[in-house]
Amino acid sequence: MIAYYGELCTKMYESDKSLAEGKELNFYLSFVKDNMRVLEPMCGNGRMLIPFLKRGIDIEGFDISEEMLRVCKEKGRKLNLSPVVFTEKIEEFSRDEKYDLIIIPFGSFSLLPNHLVHESLENMRTILKEDGKFLLTVMINNSETVENQEWAETNRKKFDQETIIEYKTVRYNEESLLNIKLKYQSIQGDLVTKTELMDFPIRLYEVEEFQDLLRVNGFNRIVVHDVKNGYGHGSSFQVFECGI
Ligand SMILES: C[S@@+](CC[C@H](N)C(=O)[O-])C[C@H]1O[C@@H](n2cnc3c(N)ncnc32)[C@H](O)[C@@H]1O
Repeated sequence: MIAYYGELCTKMYESDKSLAEGKELNFYLSFVKDNMRVLEPMCGNGRMLIPFLKRGIDIEGFDISEEMLRVCKEKGRKLNLSPVVFTEKIEEFSRDEKYDLIIIPFGSFSLLPNHLVHESLENMRTILKEDGKFLLTVMINNSETVENQEWAETNRKKFDQETIIEYKTVRYNEESLLNIKLKYQSIQGDLVTKTELMDFPIRLYEVEEFQDLLRVNGFNRIVVHDVKNGYGHGSSFQVFECGI
């Protein structure tokens, strides 16, 4: 079955990316001031949204995947929180109200194909307050991509009733697109009880290229932050901060 962040993929994601913490979380929290309205497009399982909510921040989020949002709400309930999240596509998102801070962490923006980038940035610009800030990360093209045309096992996790195995193929094309295909299999006993296939194209950017993209889409005051050891020791990433 073809799915996008479906049940098995979401279960794997949640098992090792449940809640943001440490340097990454602190970086985003450092932009929050009293009484701010925060929006997290592509919020997924609430990895970032729930830690914000736990600190009493007025945050809401949206995502294309019902399954990721279901996990987000369930996780919130367990912590006596009620995440305000809804099913929407960033390329179609529109609201009358405006936000002080919009965040898209963890390279999620790179999941958008080229033809959705302009609408998506335009939608974010429209809902950002005059003095608001937009923080986002993309996957940077660092030429370290290793192609792999054959299915290769890339992850395996044991849960109560099942083991889920993730397989991947990776191809790179000249338009800086990583054509990744993922396959998740749920194994119970000796049987494969469910298979999920997922097309997972990732757009890689050069830092300057992405800054230009923000500029041509009406964003200013662009600052690129290097968050050293952001996802743990030895894993730095860049965050683009901008306003209108
Ligand atoms: C890698 S997850 C990241 C989730 C979250 N930002 C985090 O930091 O953990 C990317 C999320 O983007 C969502 N997504 C992909 N394309 C989308 C779109 N066009 N509109 C809204 N959400 C989208 C996926 O469903 C997925 O939940």
